[in-house]
Amino acid sequence: LVLVIDFGGQYKQLIARRVREANVYCEVLPYTTSIEKIKEKNPKGIIFTGGPASVYAENVPTIDKEIFELGIPVLGICYGGQLMAHLFGGKVSRAESREYGRVELKIKDREGIFVDIPDNSKCWMSHTDFIEKAPLGFEITAITDSCPVAAMKNAERKLYAVQFHPEVEHSEKGREMIHNFLYKVCGVSGDWNMHNFTESSIKEIKEKVGNKKVLCALSGGVDSSVAAVMVHKAVGDQLTCIFVDHGLLRKNEGDQVEQIFKEKFQMNLIRVNAQERFLKKLKGVTDPETKRKIIGEEFIRVFEEEASKLGQIDYLVQGTVYPDVIESGTDTASVIKSHHNVGGLPEDMQFSLIEPLRQLFKDEVRKVGEELQIPEEIVWRQPFPGPGLAIRVLGEITEEKLYIVRESDAILREEIRKANLHRQIWQYFTALPNIRSVGVMGDERTYSHAVAIRAVTSSDGMTSDWARIPYDVLEKISNRIVNEVDNVNRIVYDITSKPPSTIEWE
Ligand code: XMP
Repeated sequence: LVLVIDFGGQYKQLIARRVREANVYCEVLPYTTSIEKIKEKNPKGIIFTGGPASVYAENVPTIDKEIFELGIPVLGICYGGQLMAHLFGGKVSRAESREYGRVELKIKDREGIFVDIPDNSKCWMSHTDFIEKAPLGFEITAITDSCPVAAMKNAERKLYAVQFHPEVEHSEKGREMIHNFLYKVCGVSGDWNMHNFTESSIKEIKEKVGNKKVLCALSGGVDSSVAAVMVHKAVGDQLTCIFVDHGLLRKNEGDQVEQIFKEKFQMNLIRVNAQERFLKKLKGVTDPETKRKIIGEEFIRVFEEEASKLGQIDYLVQGTVYPDVIESGTDTASVIKSHHNVGGLPEDMQFSLIEPLRQLFKDEVRKVGEELQIPEEIVWRQPFPGPGLAIRVLGEITEEKLYIVRESDAILREEIRKANLHRQIWQYFTALPNIRSVGVMGDERTYSHAVAIRAVTSSDGMTSDWARIPYDVLEKISNRIVNEVDNVNRIVYDITSKPPSTIEWE
């Protein structure tokens, strides 16, 4: 185990992912974690993240100096490195302006984190403060034109600090440096992999559940699917899955889910076809947040009704993943959209939770999915919002409008896949802006719907850029939609990034 101590840095998850990619299990803990708790965890190494603070300001994140006395190697990154320098009596200063971007790193040392790293490589800087003078007992191991201490170490005490960000892609040798820290300095064994994880989790679930009954709300999304199959491997028919089809899914999606889990995996799956119920509740509703609320509430109601028919159930499976665990407990900024997932379940239900993916990042969940032989269309499925097509039909939802988004989306997805772009684009779908415009078809004037194509690249959905789909692919998509989908005569392409836009239109 390696601990990542979070000082408020925007890259904490990235650091943790880099460590995991190096086959080392790690956990992210806030800087307020007590030394006792850290000792109890008995980590092989500790990494301090960056953070927005300045070591000299008041009430800034800091840590008990005792952490350096435990004999555990520490790597401080950016603010974490400055804090190390500061606590040991070095000098941290404020630069006149912020340094941001790729910078040439010159290495003066070949030990520890820099084993086999070339003399010169690019590194990514994002800071205002910098270490001006290394503390007593530390030596400078790398410099840049503007940083006299781009890296420093106290090899005897196994303390390392870097001003740059080895965790970001732009640091050319960053991965290798983190790898060196883990393997050369901390001496980890590197046995974290998804094969071992899957086997041991299945065993654990089996022991935990015994002969009790388990329930799962399956949506067909990556997380709930992988969690469900894992639990099914552990307890077989003691697991029942409820799949609420709210009629706002993509084309053929409901049947596909049913086919995969019922036929391929032979799981107990109850599909509830509740389309009419949801459409009735949504009739006349135009406000996006109200739509979300109605769908969320109705989902819970349907789920409860079905669950109550099953008699005594003891456990509930949830597809919680590690980013949810890290982020819960931190105050998130103002609510821009309420993202209650389908799977946001009633709080008063009397279940114990099974969360088999609680420790995993998304890429690890996908690997587990592959281990479990879940088909590619599920494991690599693009994110799909819980309220489904309801937030892609702007304004009031009608069957005709649902038909238009569903069919146009199916065409878009087919063409993206044919063009082999499906793994490069984070999300791609169509939206119905609810505007009609004039067109001409044959010799006839038309007055029909415009359909918008939305396709974005992103690594986590928090920010995104519009995908540069080649023109000929767009042309094909456009032609097919106007020809094959009734009542559409215009296609537009959304070319806004997030921010200022959001990925979905509602
Ligand atoms: P936005 O539109 O906020 O979306 O840029 C970011 C990511 O969240 C998804 N999304 C939702 N997911 N319920 C969900 O489960 C929702 O109400 C919801 N709204 C947006 C969106 O598809 C994207 O992946």
